[in-house]
Amino acid sequence: MPVNGSCNGGVPNLSHHLSQEGRERLPNPMKHIWTRIAKKPNMITLANGEPHSTLFPISRIDVQVPAVTDTHIVDQVLSGTAPQQTLTSLKGGDCALDLSVALQYSSGLGCAATIERVKELNEVLHCPHHNDVVLTLGNADGVTKCFRLLGDRGDTFLIEEYSFPGLVNAPLAQGIRWAPLKMDAQGIIPSEMEQVLRTWNEETQGRRPRVLYTIPVGQNPTGSTLSIERRRRIYEIAREFDIIILEDDPYYFLQYGATDSKDEFKAMSPTFLSMDVEGRVIRIDTFSKTLVPGIRLGWITCNAMFAQKLLLLTDSTTQHTNGFSQALVCELLTPGRGWGIPGFLTWTQSLCTEYKRRRDFFMALLEKYVVSTGYAKSTLPEAGMFFWIEVLLDKHPRRRGAQPFENGDGKECDKVVDARLMDSLADFVFERGLAIMPAVSFAIMPEHQVHAGRSATQNMHPSGLNFFRATFAGQDETMEAGLKILGCALVDFFES
Ligand SMILES: Cc1ncc(COP(=O)(O)O)c(C=O)c1O
Repeated sequence: MPVNGSCNGGVPNLSHHLSQEGRERLPNPMKHIWTRIAKKPNMITLANGEPHSTLFPISRIDVQVPAVTDTHIVDQVLSGTAPQQTLTSLKGGDCALDLSVALQYSSGLGCAATIERVKELNEVLHCPHHNDVVLTLGNADGVTKCFRLLGDRGDTFLIEEYSFPGLVNAPLAQGIRWAPLKMDAQGIIPSEMEQVLRTWNEETQGRRPRVLYTIPVGQNPTGSTLSIERRRRIYEIAREFDIIILEDDPYYFLQYGATDSKDEFKAMSPTFLSMDVEGRVIRIDTFSKTLVPGIRLGWITCNAMFAQKLLLLTDSTTQHTNGFSQALVCELLTPGRGWGIPGFLTWTQSLCTEYKRRRDFFMALLEKYVVSTGYAKSTLPEAGMFFWIEVLLDKHPRRRGAQPFENGDGKECDKVVDARLMDSLADFVFERGLAIMPAVSFAIMPEHQVHAGRSATQNMHPSGLNFFRATFAGQDETMEAGLKILGCALVDFFES
């Protein structure tokens, strides 16, 4: 049965993907009764220890937001000229989600009214075949729940060769290892994924991976975005090798190639969720980058079976995401009350235009202060918040004179020297007052990898560690000051 109402006809049984924890988790009996009661409004209940809503000290929440009456709304916010609108949630009054419901204990899925709004948003953006929704505390929460849902000790997950460190570390304690996939400026190279899976040797490498964790848009840290062709190919490979795709997509709304198009949302890359007919994509979304990170609200979209298991996990752990955020988002997305979905999309489009301006500004500064030194280069990211800056270490005197490393070939030697040089350079830049993230913070460490079809040393960091991640999300002055420091530090580091 669908958990909250999608139609899942013709879906293969994917229950063999569940982890032992996923399979063995029992329903929380309190929540079970709660769900039955919720379906019968006139029930007399002495069952659950819920504080009665008449005793809630909070009877009203007013949140001031800009009124989205203009497509340049973010410019108006920045110049302090945006008209304002107040979203009001009430206990027992006229609002989209009554506070006596929002602030009460609820199902692990979240409040039905907020879920409905999020499902409508999904429909507009992805037209998903599977549209069961579980609200989360943001993507870190959503992704780690999925790791627990799908991974057992000894399993290996596929991942981009550089990835978001908090989530790279998360499943290690579950005994999961990574098989990193080589990337280029467009993200995962599908033929690499296919080769890793085709040449997988279960005797020496353990069970073949059944999960791909990917950040397909404005990838963190490399800024790469998967093209539609690559997505299609990756999805085909996932079908052939029975892989579940975890689509962690916080930067979806920040796709810069689409901003000039008349219908921005049609011009955006189709998501894995939108391609999925079999229920093998679990999409993880968040309001962190489009509203505010502190809202701690996101959502997982998946097939009904996975949603049911995520519900059980949530019912017995965090219980549900917080009611304040759910009330706010429900009010915001409800037509005639807050922005509605069209207004939310106008907001994200305007936000995207502003981030694009910052990206272009950053690129101009990068050329002026950094690329001009001849010691670094970068490509323009099509999405997200990050530049991936390649440091041309082969121009460094210590690198040019490097002697072969004892046990290895020339390549290996270069990699070891590069790692040492990057450590020193990162310190050097930091001492001059600039914090910037070195590639080593995002690389999948050899001890956390299952070596996928290559020797351990070849597999170490296939694309090298000579990169920095820098964000253009900040203020213009910060970017200018930071890139000046980086340019000067590179010259000093390479020439003195
Ligand atoms: C790829 C990726 N996943 C997850 C997160 C965490 O997002 P949230 O704030 O929704 O937990 C981030 C935040 O930067 C991210 O870049």
